[in-house]
Amino acid sequence: MTRLVICVLLCVASFVQGGHEKYEGHQLYRVAGLSEQIRGLEASLDILSAKPAARSESGKLEALIRLAPEEKEQWLHYFHRNNMMYTKIADNLAEIFRKEEAEIQSKKAAAKRSGKSMSWDTYYRHEEINAYLDELAEEHPDLVTVVNAGLSFEGRQIKYVRISSTRFENLRKPVIVIDAMAHAREWVTTPVAMYIIHQLVVEAPESPLTQSIDWIIIPVVNPDGYEYSIDVDRLWRKTRSTAHDGADECPGVDVNRNFDHHWGTAPNSANPCSIIYEGPSAFSEPETRVVRSAVTSSLERTSLYISLHSYGNMFLYAWGNNGTLPQNGLILHLVGVNMATAIDELALDEANRYIVGNAANVLYYTTGTSRDWTKAVGIPLTYTLELPGYDYLFEVPAKYVEQIVTETWAGIAVGAQYVLSTW
Ligand SMILES: *[C@@H]1O[C@H](CO)[C@@H](O)[C@H](O)[C@H]1NC(C)=O
Repeated sequence: MTRLVICVLLCVASFVQGGHEKYEGHQLYRVAGLSEQIRGLEASLDILSAKPAARSESGKLEALIRLAPEEKEQWLHYFHRNNMMYTKIADNLAEIFRKEEAEIQSKKAAAKRSGKSMSWDTYYRHEEINAYLDELAEEHPDLVTVVNAGLSFEGRQIKYVRISSTRFENLRKPVIVIDAMAHAREWVTTPVAMYIIHQLVVEAPESPLTQSIDWIIIPVVNPDGYEYSIDVDRLWRKTRSTAHDGADECPGVDVNRNFDHHWGTAPNSANPCSIIYEGPSAFSEPETRVVRSAVTSSLERTSLYISLHSYGNMFLYAWGNNGTLPQNGLILHLVGVNMATAIDELALDEANRYIVGNAANVLYYTTGTSRDWTKAVGIPLTYTLELPGYDYLFEVPAKYVEQIVTETWAGIAVGAQYVLSTW
């Protein structure tokens, strides 16, 4: 009995994931189809991600979908009938998640043994990340301020850091805002945000990027969803809010459809059970409001906003709602290409090259995104950055984290240098 209690306590304290059984025998498929075809699947299938198809299928989209054993036959038949090419890429999701969990546990134990509070080869829980941010602010009070920006729907503290050598008081400096983990299952986004903080504060605090720019970085926008994706359902994407009609059956709102930009104009996003549910009103979610308050806090001098997502190797810019370009479309494209090129130069051989483009043209129409909203409120350069996927595309094994954080920092640094050179 005592041993059981001890185990329960220890297990709860470490990175114990759960709920993998529900994915026993589930397979992952890559399916190519026309943009409308892929969008049409959204209502009935779990589309993990979508991106432009390979050159041989040009003009089409490629979606990563999950099929339960009992739905497999019917859907493969459907794809076949509709001329949608498909390939199986993983056989048993539950097994992949168990392997991921074991890898995370062992890497975290190793980091602890070597006395590090954070390492770049694994994933951390929300509380550990918050504790690390507070620690960093204590160690670097001249550079780092932690803002307790608000509580998530379930009451978790959402924190962001302000990094500034002049306490945000020099109004002649440009500001860069970066957020991560708006979508719960996109785990690799948070280490990327943490690594940017680490570079600015610990590795190179004297560099012009730290000294001449003020930074706002939100490493975990959606902690409820993140924790839920660790404990219960690895593929959870939305928040965990229950403040909308239909929440009993389908809790959660897609943070990246909840911003006030053409909100409420996409039928696909109006259904609470959709993975892209926009919420009962624009900014209904406390998580979305935290991003809004961070963005508006220094809006006049904010020149670059990047929302970190996973996966697909893409820099996407406005307008996602109708596929037209903003006035500075050319600049948006060029800066995106420069950042992407810097990343590609460091990428692994097996990695896909980055694609840079208008979100609606590269992918599909979207409404209520943070990228379009931040652009509309006046930030000149705003992007959705889809990080690389590797083996299982959406689920990024911890062994790739270090590669991804390093190469992505190189791209962000190029964006920041552009901001400085034109400010
Ligand atoms: C597309 O959407 C943007 C953002 O709302 C708007 O400024 C622009 O006028 C729209 N263009 C067209 C052709 O509707």
